[in-house]
Amino acid sequence: MNGFLSKMKLIIFFIYIPFVYSASHAFITTYTEINGQTIAGIPEFSAVTTLDGRQIDYYDSEIKMLIPKQDWMKEFISGDRFKEYTEIRERVQQTNKINITVLMQQFSHSHGVHTYQRMYGCGWDDETGASEGFDQHGYDGEDYVALDVKQLRYITAVQQGVITTNKWNNDRAQLEFLKQYYQHECVNWLQHFLKLRKVDLERAPEVSLLQKGPSSPVVCHATSFYPSEVTITWLKNGQEHHEDVDLGEVLPNEDGTFQKTSSLNIPPDEWEKNQFVCEVQHQGRTFRKTVDEIKNNTKSVHCCGFIEAVIRLVLPVLVGVATVNILVYDITSY
Ligand SMILES: *[C@@H]1O[C@H](CO)[C@@H](O)[C@H](O)[C@H]1NC(C)=O
Ligand SMILES: *[C@@H]1O[C@H](CO)[C@@H](O)[C@H](O)[C@H]1NC(C)=O
Repeated sequence: MNGFLSKMKLIIFFIYIPFVYSASHAFITTYTEINGQTIAGIPEFSAVTTLDGRQIDYYDSEIKMLIPKQDWMKEFISGDRFKEYTEIRERVQQTNKINITVLMQQFSHSHGVHTYQRMYGCGWDDETGASEGFDQHGYDGEDYVALDVKQLRYITAVQQGVITTNKWNNDRAQLEFLKQYYQHECVNWLQHFLKLRKVDLERAPEVSLLQKGPSSPVVCHATSFYPSEVTITWLKNGQEHHEDVDLGEVLPNEDGTFQKTSSLNIPPDEWEKNQFVCEVQHQGRTFRKTVDEIKNNTKSVHCCGFIEAVIRLVLPVLVGVATVNILVYDITSY
């Protein structure tokens, strides 16, 4: 049972309302309430938070505590703001129980498995200082109501949401509170987590040269670095060499650091006649590897298929594309 649970991923279906969004950082919390007796092992209430598309913590109604999902979050667990943060989840766990029954009545559902989700958070651009908030509610995977932060009012696309939007739009004090929250408090939390992450993550790249076989391309692999800005250059006899180079994209590692590759595809005799060096520059420092340091690699250098999939699905939201997204969260408790 435990083995099964530990491998299980919670899959959340959510339809996003498009919002114009180009901030460089995003801090998003998703609450999921599933009513009644459902599939064993899936908790009634769960809360997942992501920072820049990566899950940072997990809470649910069965374990009743916050599980850090990044090493640097462990520092948060021992800090001052942790109590406040956990209490919010405990409170929401109580109110969501009632919310789902009210929603089921509004949709005339007397039984069956139903879900209520709320996804809210903010984006913040560390260059311009611009920020943006959002708050979206869904029922059974469909949009229910959402906050239009600019107009400061709730909107709905379904008849069943009208009672709620009317009620919430009449509460000016609550709307003002939300405005303050999305403009200031939410951004404060975001910055707080960015700071924790940065201290823990600032790391130099580990560089290695890999080759599958004698006639395969040589891959220069830089990994475990943070922040993500990096340049990888090939040098041929001391000169920059750009031909036959296949530069990969920066990819996230599961621990919040990054990796990038640059492959050089040339015939074996070229290697012997010339001196090739891979040069990696990161945070003002230079790291070099020469071809006599090639390691024999048989396995792929790409890791984290699951994390990559999540990021590929989540990122379109950050650029404001209206899509049905499937978020796969790791609910493993350890
Ligand atoms: C959920 O419950 C809280 C507390 O009763 C209430 O303020 C809120 O409006 C409810 N949300 C929905 C979607 O009905
Ligand atoms: C790498 O491994 C392959 C297959 O095991 C072997 O044929 C080759 O000689 C090895 N190359 C080096 C540089 O060790």
